[in-house]
Amino acid sequence: ARKVILDCDPGIDDALALMLALSLPGLDVVGITVVCGNVPVEKGVKNALKILELMNRTEIGVYAGEETPLIRPYVDAMDTHGRDGLGESGLADSTVGQAKGDAVRFLADILLSQDDVSVIALGPLTNLARLRQEYPDAFARIQNLVSMGGTYKAHGNCSPVAEYNYWCDPDAATVVYEAYASLPELAGKRIHMIGLDVTRKIVLTPNLAAYMKRINPHLGSVMESITRFYMDFHWEQEGIIGCVINDPLAVAYFADPSLCDGFDAYTSVVTEGLSFGQTLVDDHEIWKKPHNSHILTKTDPYRFFLMFFCKVLGANPAQA
Ligand code: BDR
Ligand code: CA
Repeated sequence: ARKVILDCDPGIDDALALMLALSLPGLDVVGITVVCGNVPVEKGVKNALKILELMNRTEIGVYAGEETPLIRPYVDAMDTHGRDGLGESGLADSTVGQAKGDAVRFLADILLSQDDVSVIALGPLTNLARLRQEYPDAFARIQNLVSMGGTYKAHGNCSPVAEYNYWCDPDAATVVYEAYASLPELAGKRIHMIGLDVTRKIVLTPNLAAYMKRINPHLGSVMESITRFYMDFHWEQEGIIGCVINDPLAVAYFADPSLCDGFDAYTSVVTEGLSFGQTLVDDHEIWKKPHNSHILTKTDPYRFFLMFFCKVLGANPAQA
């Protein structure tokens, strides 16, 4: 199985992404690092522990990371995810009360002591930027980096052009993207950017939620109850029935890259002015800079949900 660290800010869709990662036999989740994003780190840690308990995987360590973005003031997303970050669903607390240690330190230790460890980043890139700044050798050893964030042609969700994870900490995103454009050890590697272009195609509808509950009453009920708040938010803000679940697609893509199509390009993140957080993708090679990103542009929602239903909920592929 491929070793992977999930760097996240749970978060309703982060919770679904954790459930997927923990259910895929091809993935070995060696740790979960939490960053400030949807909710403050302390709540994110609590939520990661709740999901591990739910999935009977409390042996996996959870590590608390950065509590504020590198430079900008911290803005959470509790309007989208609820005051507890899990849709105010009342999911039971874990018996494991707290994080094991510091996230950046954990990332450094594991990357320096083990080979072939990848990172799937589901929140702002603050922990990874700190890793780049404090432990550059460890950062350069990340085998594959998939980041849910940014947007290429689709509209933003925090401004007309910016997506939340990079909008929340554009300076951290810049540190990470620039490292991939400049570090000799990372030459030829790309950040796999799962942006809103592809994640907006992954809409969990009330019908699908009802189906999940039928095929797996235990996990399906939890999923239905944590996504209800998110669905209401989408209806009020965007007039859609259902909710866009961004983060699980990053996990699904890591497990099966054929799920999304994309192209390589140099990408820069705007840090100042009205458009901060925007991803500028040089798709016409105007800057002639080294490619630091693989931008995913197309996906197949049917195949995504098939994977999710079969792996997480135990649906029979012939019936799903
Ligand atoms: C991203 O922002 C968060 O609210 C979600 O968890 C996801 O990671 C989508 O813009
Ligand atoms: Ca997230």
